[in-house]
Amino acid sequence: MSESKRLAGEKAIEFVEDGMVVGVGTGSTVAFFIDALGRIRDRIAGAVSSSEQSTERLHRHGIEVLDLNAAGPLPLYVDGADECDPHRRLIKGGGAALTREKIIAQASTRFVCIIDPAKQVDVLGRFPLPIEVIPMARSLVAREVLARTGGQPVWREGVVTDNGNWVLDVHGLRIVDPVALEAELNQIPGVVAVGLFARRPADVVIVGGEPPLVLR
Ligand code: A5P
Repeated sequence: MSESKRLAGEKAIEFVEDGMVVGVGTGSTVAFFIDALGRIRDRIAGAVSSSEQSTERLHRHGIEVLDLNAAGPLPLYVDGADECDPHRRLIKGGGAALTREKIIAQASTRFVCIIDPAKQVDVLGRFPLPIEVIPMARSLVAREVLARTGGQPVWREGVVTDNGNWVLDVHGLRIVDPVALEAELNQIPGVVAVGLFARRPADVVIVGGEPPLVLR
């Protein structure tokens, strides 16, 4: 598994061009990408990071981490996912970094998603759907999610996001229309971000293997 993650992470380096500020996601697959980025750090202008965890790794490699407001629109964002469907729509947020990941994905011209083959599914939803919520709205959001989707929200107790919020994981969904579900859940007061990347899917998916598969 970690070998396919490494192969996917290293393949993504081919999308990095000289002088770029690179958007960087979070997770164990991205860790391999960051390590590869470290080897070409003199060729890039810096990175925008989606989490404290990735920032720390980028710094260890001597890569400057920039504020998104200062960096402006980004040419490239590289990130992992928890599930990916045939239309490159994703479930993300297993590492609780979904809100910043969503912001950077939206700010980027090209989103390259790096996954191991186990992440590929026909229909999203086997992986519990993460939702970042304002703490005081946890129960309200859970009730609304149950009523609107029939899915079972479970509080990821003890986890506080980099933004100081909490995470609900919604079990038992079979997401046949991810664009509609993303819009519906975004309506609930107290929802900060939904871990569905359907309105803004990945542009390219790299599935780690020998050789890696590049899906566009
Ligand atoms: C972080 O919140 C997630 O969106 C990650 O992108 C995802 O969980 C990545 O999984 P891996 O650790 O398997 O790369």
